[in-house]
Amino acid sequence: MTSASKQIDNSPGSREIPSVPGHWLLGNLLEFKRAPHEFLQAIAGYGRGLVKFRLFHKPLIIISDIATATEIFKTNSQNFPRGTQRKALQSVLGLGLITQEGKLWKHQRRVVAQAFRPDFLQYSLDQNGRLVSNLLQSWEQRLGTEEAIDAVEEMRRITLSVIVRALFSIDIDLARNEKLYQAIINANHLMFRRHTSLVGLPDWIPTPLNRAIAATRNTMNDFIDECLAEKEADNSRESQDIVDHFLQEETDGEINRAQIYDEIRTLLVAGFETTATSLAWTLYLIARHPEINQEWHEELDAQLQGRVPVWEDMKNLPITESIVKEGLRLYPPAYALTRTCLQEAVVNGYRIPAGASLALSIYGIQRSELYFASPDEFDPARFRANASEEGFIPFGLGKHVCIGNRFSILEATLILACIGQRYELSQQQDKSIKPNAQVTLLPSERIMLRLKRR
Ligand code: HEM
Repeated sequence: MTSASKQIDNSPGSREIPSVPGHWLLGNLLEFKRAPHEFLQAIAGYGRGLVKFRLFHKPLIIISDIATATEIFKTNSQNFPRGTQRKALQSVLGLGLITQEGKLWKHQRRVVAQAFRPDFLQYSLDQNGRLVSNLLQSWEQRLGTEEAIDAVEEMRRITLSVIVRALFSIDIDLARNEKLYQAIINANHLMFRRHTSLVGLPDWIPTPLNRAIAATRNTMNDFIDECLAEKEADNSRESQDIVDHFLQEETDGEINRAQIYDEIRTLLVAGFETTATSLAWTLYLIARHPEINQEWHEELDAQLQGRVPVWEDMKNLPITESIVKEGLRLYPPAYALTRTCLQEAVVNGYRIPAGASLALSIYGIQRSELYFASPDEFDPARFRANASEEGFIPFGLGKHVCIGNRFSILEATLILACIGQRYELSQQQDKSIKPNAQVTLLPSERIMLRLKRR
């Protein structure tokens, strides 16, 4: 008997998971395809903990509360490895932290986690203040004009610069690296297509999708080749960034060159679009809620007095951080996580068959009244009232919890502080924008914002 099966409650009297009614042939395919995040939120009401629906003949079990998620993601995690998303991600990312399981994952997790140690976070944040301030200079020419900024595009450029600096300690020239920028954006799109494609042909068959995936991977690898060559040619460098840490681990025999490439591609993709989309949604929320500006701006002015924020300032920006968290709660970039059940299990009194696919609806949980009062309302103050954050899981939970979570909250708080210090934001057109669930939760149309000097 494995340790996973020992922990599973096989008590008699387990119930069938409640099913959502659907079309006899398609099941719930149409509602699901239209807006997966909304569908997952809506069906949570059918049952507490677990509920089931069909895509054609294939059942998918949705986890809709934290107690059940904890059993699956923490207590019995060996019996519930990552699901079908993993294969699609592997086509671009190779065998990085996001796509591995078992012993190899455990080893890599330790190696990569050490790169995100506290002194690296401080080093990185102090570098990012200057970097972000410089990047925001390009916004100055829009002041006083009718020209609006595209929030997703702008946040992508900033977060790509930040992650490249965290990896290699270089300031990426975005104009020169347009191909890389597009490749990383494309990576998410291609992985989503691979994940949702009904015919999953192997990577070596030169379908248009497989060729596009290979081209994207090659562009990223060319960039890594260049940066590594530059780094290794510079003997005077002081080891601080993530790749310096990987190179040291390579010397110590803990990681090989191919794994370094896979981990760098993983961090580039995982660390860029997630933070960028979340920040873009947060700017959208700020623009639609000018009532939060007064106390937010007072905090920024009192704590920073016009300076570029540094590490020591971060603990003094609770309002800014609460806005970041509220943005992540309402628009979680990773809106659902998938898992597969290895051996039949009983969770929360429900029998889960071996081979079943499960999904945790982060979007649904974070907008559930079970965990938040008036859950659809934007209210950053909820994160300052010492209220429970039990239902706040934008970074997942259990052993795979996001390795960049602290980095990402610090980065987003810093970027928001730099923006709030200088500008007031408003929407170009006063309209509500819906999410479009791809690999991350993108807006369904461009978020166009006007800038005004504060
Ligand atoms: C707002 C920003 C971010 C969000 C919402 C986010 C969300 C998540 C979530 C939900 C997971 C868990 C996946 C699962 O359990 O299957 C995860 C894992 C991961 N994230 Fe993030 N992430 C963010 C930023 C970052 C950043 C900045 C980095 C790195 C620089 C990063 C690197 C990773 C990696 C490597 C994993 C895999 C961890 C493992 O399986 O051991 N993420 N992220």
